[in-house]
Parts: sequence; structure tokens; C-alpha cells
Amino acid sequence: MQSPWPDEFIRVPDEEWALAPLGELALKYDTVEGHGWYCNLDRTVDDLTAFLEPHHRLLDYSGGTGILASRLLMELATRGFGILIVDSSPKFLRLAVDKLGRQERMGFRLLRYLKEEKRLQSLQETVDSSLYPAGFDALVSTNAIHLYYGLAKTLRSWWHALRSGGRVFIQSGNIGLPYMPAGSWIIDETVEAIHRRAMEIVASEKRWSGYRAPLGNAGRMEPYDVQRRKFFLPVRPIEHYLSRLEEAGFRILEVTHLPIEAHVDQWYEFLSAYHDGVLGWVGGSKRIEGSSPTPEAVEDRLQILRDALDAVFASGSFRAIWTYINAERPEEE
Ligand SMILES: C[S@@+](CC[C@H](N)C(=O)[O-])C[C@H]1O[C@@H](n2cnc3c(N)ncnc32)[C@H](O)[C@@H]1O
Repeated sequence: MQSPWPDEFIRVPDEEWALAPLGELALKYDTVEGHGWYCNLDRTVDDLTAFLEPHHRLLDYSGGTGILASRLLMELATRGFGILIVDSSPKFLRLAVDKLGRQERMGFRLLRYLKEEKRLQSLQETVDSSLYPAGFDALVSTNAIHLYYGLAKTLRSWWHALRSGGRVFIQSGNIGLPYMPAGSWIIDETVEAIHRRAMEIVASEKRWSGYRAPLGNAGRMEPYDVQRRKFFLPVRPIEHYLSRLEEAGFRILEVTHLPIEAHVDQWYEFLSAYHDGVLGWVGGSKRIEGSSPTPEAVEDRLQILRDALDAVFASGSFRAIWTYINAERPEEE
């Protein structure tokens, strides 16, 4: 199979992040691959299957631990397009290299956080200029666009990375919709509901009385509210994304919403990796109090998280709505 990359292209850069030990959070995140709700990728895989050709280059922006790339390599094993994963997390990217670094079709680039400038590197600052003359044929962003604080700039960098006629495939379960079918959820909005139910549980059950101090004390709870909204950002409406895409020069081709069933056991497993962000006020968070919670407090926090989830979703599962947006960089006239 012919390499999808130019001769001088280094697929795995010789940088410290690529050689670091594997991180626990990345390994934990990667287990979502086996979760039922990660069938949210199916539609994206179908759309990419319909579009990508053997000589193409796909930019997997925020490709994380490489879950989508693994699926594409498996399902389209003989269609030799290249996939460049670009991500802002050195630890997630490190795991992606561990899983997929030996595959000739894969490349990896880190978007570094530039502390002094208080910003992430742009795509153009991290991706080799040798890939730009032709431009990427497609860019995909799964389960991530709701996390971009510099959305307009990011979308503009996507436009520059694509060839004219190139496609963008975006999907997220955290896009606000004007109409939600009864009983459906925007996935991260479950976190606020869990937090509220956890406060009721702690207030009413004697065994948790040791964790009641922050309840009813707005000053103590507020930093935890702020922290929770940093982990799970307030949901922005779909119009926000569509207008930013158009302002960046894209033409919207298709917007689709699909129901995705999430099992409480698996959603618990996912949220338990972020317990500090969801219920840090139970036992305290190092980021806020300066000292870590005791192991017993973490155990209690996880139990309260589980109880709150079971109380909010008594049927054992819930339906989330995923939004899929396909757009293109229009052909130049
Ligand atoms: C929920 S994970 C999704 C990973 C992968 N796309 C998937 O579907 O499994 C979100 C990813 O977005 C990345 N991310 C967060 N903020 C970002 C930003 N501002 N620019 C680029 N990537 C970002 C994270 O590092 C993480 O890998």
C-alpha cells in the first residue's frame, strides 16, 4: 500500500510526550470504546466511509486516544487513506501512539498549551507545512467541539487545513437543541441533575452527615460549581455552532440528530473517572482546598455518585441526543 504521507513526514514526533509512560486517566477514558453509548461514532464512521478515498488524508482533530481512528483502520483496512490525530492532551495522544503508532497510515501531532501566551497552539503551528500545499481532504471532530473555548479561531484553522471541496464531519452529544424529545438528555446536563440529587441524598441520609458542611453555604459550594462547569461546560445552542461554521467560510451540508441509549452502569464508570469534577464538594478537592480528600472520602463520593445516578435514572438507562453536522469548504470559483 502506498504511503499517504510525503517522504519527509515524521509520523510520530521525537518529543517527550510521545515517550512518556501511559497515564491512568487516558487508559480509563479509553474504556469508553466498549461502552454502548460510544455507538455515537457509528454514524460518523458511515459518513467517512461514504466520503474517503484511498489516497485521502483525514485530520482527526481532538482524536484523543484514537478510538475513532482504530475503528476506521479496522473497518476500512484496505482503503489506504492516512489519518493524522491532532490533540491538546499529551496523555491521550501518548495512548493513541501506543495503540496505533506502528500503523503506516497514522500520524500524531500535539497542540501544546503555550503558558506565557495563555493559548493553545494553532493547527498551522503544529502540523508540518509539507502537508498544507494539497490540504487535508476531510477533518473529523468527535465528542469534542463543545470543549473548544476559541471556537471561531479553531474553525478558521480547519478551513485553512482543508483543500477546497474538503469536508468537515462534526458530532457531539453536548449541543443544545431548541426541541428535545420527552425524556431525552444532552449528555453532560446529566451532571447537574446528578449533583442536585447528590445534595438531597447527603442532606437526608444520616450516614453522609459528615459531608453536609458545604450544603446551604453558598461561599463554600461556589468554587465547586465553577469547577464542575470547567469539567462539564455549559451547553451552547446549535445555532452558535452553525453560525460560527458559516462565518469561518464553511457551507453546511447536513444536520442530523440521533438518539443514543446510555446505560447507567457505563455512565457511572465514565463519570467516576471525573469524580473530582462532578462531586468534589463531597470530601473536598485538592484544587480548591489545597489538600486531597482521604481515600475513604473518595470511596464515599463514588457511592454517593452511584446512588444519585440510580435515583435520577431509575430505569437503568437514559436516552441522549447526539448531533451530527457535515459541512464543506466550498470549491473555489
Ligand atoms: C471526550 S474526548 C473525545 C476524544 C475522541 N474524539 C473520541 O471521540 O473518543 C475530547 C478530546 O478533545 C480534546 N480537546 C479538548 N479541548 C480541546 C481543544 N481546545 N482543542 C483540541 N482538542 C481538544 C481532549 O484532549 C480530548 O482528547
